[in-house]
Amino acid sequence: MDRLFILQTLMKKKRLRNYLEIGVSNAHTFFKIKSNFKIAVDPEFRFDFVRKAGKTLLNPSNLLNNYVHKTSDDFFAQDAATLIGNRKIDVSLIDGMHEYAYALRDVENTLEYLSDDGVIIMHDCNPLTAQAAISFADWKATNFAGMWSGDVWKTIVHLRSLRDDINVFVLDCDFGLGIITRKKPESRLKFNQDQVMQLSYEEFDRNRKEWLNLKPENYFFEYFDL
Ligand SMILES: C[S@@+](CC[C@H](N)C(=O)[O-])C[C@H]1O[C@@H](n2cnc3c(N)ncnc32)[C@H](O)[C@@H]1O
Repeated sequence: MDRLFILQTLMKKKRLRNYLEIGVSNAHTFFKIKSNFKIAVDPEFRFDFVRKAGKTLLNPSNLLNNYVHKTSDDFFAQDAATLIGNRKIDVSLIDGMHEYAYALRDVENTLEYLSDDGVIIMHDCNPLTAQAAISFADWKATNFAGMWSGDVWKTIVHLRSLRDDINVFVLDCDFGLGIITRKKPESRLKFNQDQVMQLSYEEFDRNRKEWLNLKPENYFFEYFDL
């Protein structure tokens, strides 16, 4: 099970429509989503006109895509209100800068536009090694070697500690898919923001199941009644 399956299943079975993806890269996921209202946000898209045209032939809804060639912070500050207007976002994939503070702002900003039944999916919440969880600066110093999930896991710990208006869990697949819905949390953690910042990968590794509210992938069907 991966993020594309989760997105397509939710959109089809729950009739969720408007889609926002933060961090799009070559649009491997984005181009496959069928929706008449899609927003792609990335400061560095990695596809050209030919790829876009080919993907539009395969999925004509790509003709209507909105591309925002900016960081997500700039998108929310400058474009989101106008572009989204009176609509709401039903499904969002947050997969941009994989650092705690950035991912947290992406979730909090997206929640401002999320419909009541909306779902946020966060990629890379469950790094399996300390190396996959290093900072962006350290990853850059390796010349971007290996898989990198960063410390998005801290965003999950933060939300589970400090928000009582959303339910947050992580599916144990595709490097950890965080699922956020507007429901009462089924359980909470007790960290403040300073404490979350200080947490180490070693502590995370000892507590990952509890801190992430980690669920087997099939829990997806149970939670969404599919
Ligand atoms: C892992 S890739 C996204 C993969 C894509 N979501 C998929 O499913 O195939 C991460 C992307 O995030 C983008 N990115 C980095 N910093 C960002 C930021 N501040 N705001 C938005 N996107 C960002 C990078 O340019 C990169 O293309």
